[in-house]
Amino acid sequence: MATPRLQAPRGTYDVLPEQAAPRLALETVARRVLEGAGYERIETPAFEATELFTRGVGASTDIVQKEMYTFPDAGGRSLTLRPEGTAPICRAYVEHGMQVRSQPVKLWYLSSFFRYERAQAGRYRQFWQVGAETIGSDDPAVDAESITLLWSILSELEVGGIVLRLGSLGTPAARAAYREQLAAYLHAHQERLSPEVAARIDLNPLRAFDADHPGTREVMAGAPVLMDALAPEDLEHFAEVRARLDAAGIAYRLDPTLVRGLDYYARTVFEFTSDLLGAQSAVGGGGRYDGLIEQLGGSHTPACGWAAGVERILLSAEHRPLPRAVCDLYVAGTGVAAFALAAEARRAGLNVQLELAGRSRKGQRKQAARLGAVHVALVEESGSIALEDAETGEQEPVDGAAAAIAQILKGRHL
Ligand code: HAM
Repeated sequence: MATPRLQAPRGTYDVLPEQAAPRLALETVARRVLEGAGYERIETPAFEATELFTRGVGASTDIVQKEMYTFPDAGGRSLTLRPEGTAPICRAYVEHGMQVRSQPVKLWYLSSFFRYERAQAGRYRQFWQVGAETIGSDDPAVDAESITLLWSILSELEVGGIVLRLGSLGTPAARAAYREQLAAYLHAHQERLSPEVAARIDLNPLRAFDADHPGTREVMAGAPVLMDALAPEDLEHFAEVRARLDAAGIAYRLDPTLVRGLDYYARTVFEFTSDLLGAQSAVGGGGRYDGLIEQLGGSHTPACGWAAGVERILLSAEHRPLPRAVCDLYVAGTGVAAFALAAEARRAGLNVQLELAGRSRKGQRKQAARLGAVHVALVEESGSIALEDAETGEQEPVDGAAAAIAQILKGRHL
């Protein structure tokens, strides 16, 4: 009986060579935009102590309740594959005493994350995010700048059908008072709500804004909104953020009901959606999280950031093929002399591919053409080398590897 073949786990995928180019383009644009604005790259471990996320992301969120890959290690510690990057970066900020650096500290990342979600197009169990965190300032310019940078990345990558939704959540205290007010309103209109929404009034009244049920939608049209419950200084902060986005020409839709799936947000929240994406329309999102670092044992440190889904960007972006690396030299020949020529030519900075499949001379020529090689070196066992111009087919004997390399370099610099 044949040995059964194995497959990648559900919700994961392989990045095949032909998919590497658009990912590289994304990384290149993100790096240029973010490093150009003074962000520095950070990488944190793929797993962390589980408590980081229960404390940081919030014990009652879907992420912590249902979506974490949590396991005990052999030493009996509870570890979790990171479901997001903000809490780990705040942990690193505190652990490495980054508050003594010049503030705000500006960090970016491109990493994989893990959530046990229902797998579908645009939603995976291992997925990649590009993200940026600005830690150590409550200036509204930070919020506006971080939104602007994500906007630039999405525009440069030609992500289509983009809408930016913007809201403010105020302080946790204002939010708690608002929740009670909303719950009271929902209880007063309970008979018109869908049974699911009615059952969750006290657990999560904000969810009612997302319902499709017609009766619920009618009730929600008249529901109190959080924006009306914000403290004057939070409203002022939000107005300052908006003024800067307006000045930068960034269009947005105010969305007083924008809720995010993580508990750490305070004040500004935002989300970019693309109507090219279907059900999983969120391309990226983020906001201010002024209380998170304190919650993780640091001192009070205001911060703001975002993360965008790599797969979703790629699904909604225009793809222009990247130019392939030029193959300067294809070494036809399989002996030691051929190998030595390839090694020496690479040391000289040429892009070289070596015959590795034992092809005949004819097969080697075909392979060189397939690779688009500029030159082909026909190397005999004796060590004699003939250099062929792949375009014209002109062949000329050369006096050793150094001469062959010099000739190719000369052509390259013409
Ligand atoms: P998030 O909204 O949970 O925020 O995720 C950000 C983006 O990651 C989403 O908009 C989506 O594009 C992508 N994403 C999330 N889950 C999946 C999945 N299962 N499959 C594919 N893509 C997914 C955060 O993670 C926050 N840490 C963002 C942040 C940074 N807030 C402040 N700083």
